Amino acid sequence: MKILVTGGLGFIGSHVVVELQNEGFEVVIIDNLSNSSEKVLDGITAITGKQAIFEKMDLRDKDKVQDFFKRHHDVLGVIHFAASKAVGESVEKPLLYYENNLNTLIYILQELSKKESSHFIFSSSCTVYGQADTLPITESAPIKVAESPYGNTKQIGEEIIKDTCKILNNLNAIALRYFNPIGAHETAKIGELPIGVPQNLVPFITQTGIGLRDQLSVFGDDYPTEDGTCIRDYIHVVDLAKAHVAALKRLIDGKNQTNYEIFNVGTGKGSSVLEVINAFEEVSKQKLNYKIVGRREGDIISAYADTKKANEVLGWRAESSLNDALLSAWNWEKKIRE
Ligand code: UD1
Repeated sequence: MKILVTGGLGFIGSHVVVELQNEGFEVVIIDNLSNSSEKVLDGITAITGKQAIFEKMDLRDKDKVQDFFKRHHDVLGVIHFAASKAVGESVEKPLLYYENNLNTLIYILQELSKKESSHFIFSSSCTVYGQADTLPITESAPIKVAESPYGNTKQIGEEIIKDTCKILNNLNAIALRYFNPIGAHETAKIGELPIGVPQNLVPFITQTGIGLRDQLSVFGDDYPTEDGTCIRDYIHVVDLAKAHVAALKRLIDGKNQTNYEIFNVGTGKGSSVLEVINAFEEVSKQKLNYKIVGRREGDIISAYADTKKANEVLGWRAESSLNDALLSAWNWEKKIRE
């Protein structure tokens, strides 16, 4: 039961490695450490008591990818996280994003196509829906024109997998469209490690809470929502990690209805930016310094998942509340600043 997790030392990847090991899978991690650290391995082992095999590798090197699959011919499934994810940077460096996020996907699928049977989980995003016309967002909501090269790589990535599955019966794939992953492992041994100034809301909040940043800027309070701030579906990263294990088991057990399936992974509950701030103040028992500023370009107003398909077909459900997730993020922030 050997599973390859690419990008397995990253934020979501590391939490998935833990859940896989907890379920008895043997894990091999490939990571190029471009946005992660080898120390994450120690955190994983401290939680599970198990050692993952780690290979530092850049998946853009096709020869190395081929060589890896020759050496690990017993890989039963692949969960593919390795990708660049900064929206702003993708606008500045589109070719880097297309190369990094798409070439690596193609090389892995080429190797999987040589196997008698293979199982593949793709890390996609609710960003493919853009501003959906109807909420909550179901998997059949139309895909909107991507706002950034990053978002486009998720759309094209899904297309590549869909087209490949059409002609390869031995390839079974699931794309998981994540809403907004936040939080950290409850042990505070692994979590999010943003490099530089965080672009995402929750790490910016916790860094402001700890005194690393002066003030959080809330991007706009004149949106057509109840309190005027944008609404997102914040999901605890451990719940998200468990969805990957459920998806992988579905494929391994042959329970999938078609060889390419898509699931939304969210809580189904939308929270506004001000609600997130209030919840953070509640769990951290301190006031957060913030001010309302202008809107951020490219932000959508509101997005939250219809989770019916994931709940009923995948047999998975998000269990943690927003407060649970924020408390774990806060405990992690305090731990890494010790
Ligand atoms: C962002 C990415 C999305 C990616 C997701 C991963 C953009 C435009 N989109 O989504 O492609 O899949 O992260 O989690 O970057 N906010 C503030 N102040 C801040 C930071 C954020 O008010 O300093 C607000 C934003 O306006 C937004 C909400 O917080 O309403 C969430 O923002 P963020 O965490 O960046 O996530 P998304 O924009 O949803």
